[in-house]
Amino acid sequence: MSESMNGLHRSHRCGELDASNIGTEVTLMGWVQKRRNLGSLIFVDLRDRSGLIQLVFDEAVIGKEGFEKAGTLRSEFVIAITGKVSKRTAAVNENLKTGEIEVFAETLRILSEAQTPPFPIEEGIQTKDELRLKYRYLDLRRPDLQRNLFMRSRVVSSIRAFLINEGFIEVETPILQKSTPEGARDYLVPSRVHPGSFYALPQSPQLFKQLLMCSGFDRYFQIAKCFRDEDLRADRQPEFTQVDMELSFADVDDVIDVNERLLAHVFKETLDVEVPLPIPRMTWQEAMDRFGSDKPDLRFGMELTDVSDVVKNCGFGVFTGALENGGSVRGINVKGQGEMSRKKIDKLVEEAKGIGAKGLAYVALQSDGSVKSSFSKFLSEEEMQALIRAMDGEAGDLLLFAADKNKIVWEVLGTLRCNLAKELDLIDGNEFKFLWVVDFPVFEWSDEQGRYLAMHHPFTMPREEDVELINTDRKAEAKAKAYDIVLNGCELGGGSIRIHQNDVQETMFEALGFTKEEAYDRFGFLLDAFKYGVPPHAGLAFGLDRMIMLMVKADSIRDVIAFPKVKDASCLMTQAPTPVDDKQLDELCLAVKSE
Ligand code: AMO
Ligand code: AMP
Repeated sequence: MSESMNGLHRSHRCGELDASNIGTEVTLMGWVQKRRNLGSLIFVDLRDRSGLIQLVFDEAVIGKEGFEKAGTLRSEFVIAITGKVSKRTAAVNENLKTGEIEVFAETLRILSEAQTPPFPIEEGIQTKDELRLKYRYLDLRRPDLQRNLFMRSRVVSSIRAFLINEGFIEVETPILQKSTPEGARDYLVPSRVHPGSFYALPQSPQLFKQLLMCSGFDRYFQIAKCFRDEDLRADRQPEFTQVDMELSFADVDDVIDVNERLLAHVFKETLDVEVPLPIPRMTWQEAMDRFGSDKPDLRFGMELTDVSDVVKNCGFGVFTGALENGGSVRGINVKGQGEMSRKKIDKLVEEAKGIGAKGLAYVALQSDGSVKSSFSKFLSEEEMQALIRAMDGEAGDLLLFAADKNKIVWEVLGTLRCNLAKELDLIDGNEFKFLWVVDFPVFEWSDEQGRYLAMHHPFTMPREEDVELINTDRKAEAKAKAYDIVLNGCELGGGSIRIHQNDVQETMFEALGFTKEEAYDRFGFLLDAFKYGVPPHAGLAFGLDRMIMLMVKADSIRDVIAFPKVKDASCLMTQAPTPVDDKQLDELCLAVKSE
């Protein structure tokens, strides 16, 4: 039978005790990690969120009944004991913070019995992800996940304290919002009172934070839950948390300044890591040209080189064809991999194709000075040497080339660069390399929708000198006052200066293919608000989950979210989403279409 607290008070957490407590009477509570019987003594490791401590049950101390009860303890039983802290009689356990001491139990209460858990509650155990997520409440007992959530809590309170000190006010914005699809797909919530009408869950508090600027709050922030119905990956969940902020009377430098000081403050306070300020800035164009990515990982080199000029007159149709179609030929130099086996190179070619390339051309520079290449027969000796020189190729290097439209070349080489660096162990896992990427294009072309979309969002201000381009056939050249903060190759956050002039905003909607009516229908409340006096404003949002993931060096944001969802956006523990009763559907005037 489970006993209750009945007036018992915990005096310490298990992991808080050390040799300075020897001789102290303590009351401890927690979970049984394991029990070992050694004749007249029973040893139990007791666990709580602070760590483990060894308990000793000695019949001479606890009495016959207590000793027998201790003999029934099994893993994950929840118990309370009172006892005295002693110096360990056996060898000190140096792996344990409490390894010098043990507690001789004087009383024992079993607060709850436990079935054998489906997997052992230990750090670093190999268990199938599905099982861990089905029993997430047990997985969360493991010290590594507990550390992650404690770190998350510390980071959030550090962010709050910093921003409040900088004059930001925390305001909550609605979760039930108007659907204004642009970007990801919305999660919809049907209205019972207005049959056939729907709220949308916020993809971000974007419009409300801009309205708060119209209302004069000046500096706003929120630790905001956001919802996006998009394909999930290791760094994407359908619901996630943003550290969202907006500032009035601010330009790019003001937003960057407060945010890099925020990052430095949080990293120092929670990880004791110095972030050197100012964080370097790079234009989007330079990031793409040098790294093939708008979120470059700066912890290693292997930069891209544009060799279009070198190969433009060569006899290799793959290269010249790409150039004639307005594309480029670019390469990366994988240092010291010139002797890579043919099989491995073929795998790289397949990988490139998987990313969207038509192929991957290579030059493998052998240590004896000879050259192996998939396209040497198309190039003269001089042309090949010129290409190798352009790539800074030395004996023993592997040169990889992609020829296609810029977008594909960047994507292919940018991805291979990162994959190869991981495979070849070129990354120092202890480094934190921050970077601001600035001057993003205003628009990006969507093949799927056959129109230009806003690369950041439709409220982002073009650079002053580019405003006149936005509604012309040169719109693709227009750059925005938008910035992303990147850490170790991951997009940590992004933001922009907002358009606060109604005429610019209207031109922008037009450029995006909205009629005036459509724009008013969706965003009229914002355009109206701007008519009553709007300060110039700007903002940014960090992905909190991503930030914590990088801070604790987890592989996925799943490891820093208490109750995450899996790839198909379901929750393996609660089974959500589930069908609902017909009665509930009736109330909402909804029917489910059968396929
Ligand atoms: P953006 O769409 O770039 O900007 O989002 C900001 C940051 O949120 C994080 N993020 C995600 N994290 C986990 N799972 C997801 N599905 C997910 N989607 C985004 C990323 C990203 O950098 N309102 C603007 C910000 C602004 O302009 O102020 C916005 O939402 O780390
Ligand atoms: P092919 O002439 O198609 O046999 O290709 C010759 C070599 O060029 C092979 O190594 C292909 O993988 C490579 N290749 C083909 N298309 C491209 C491309 N778009 N970019 C780079 N290499 C390519």
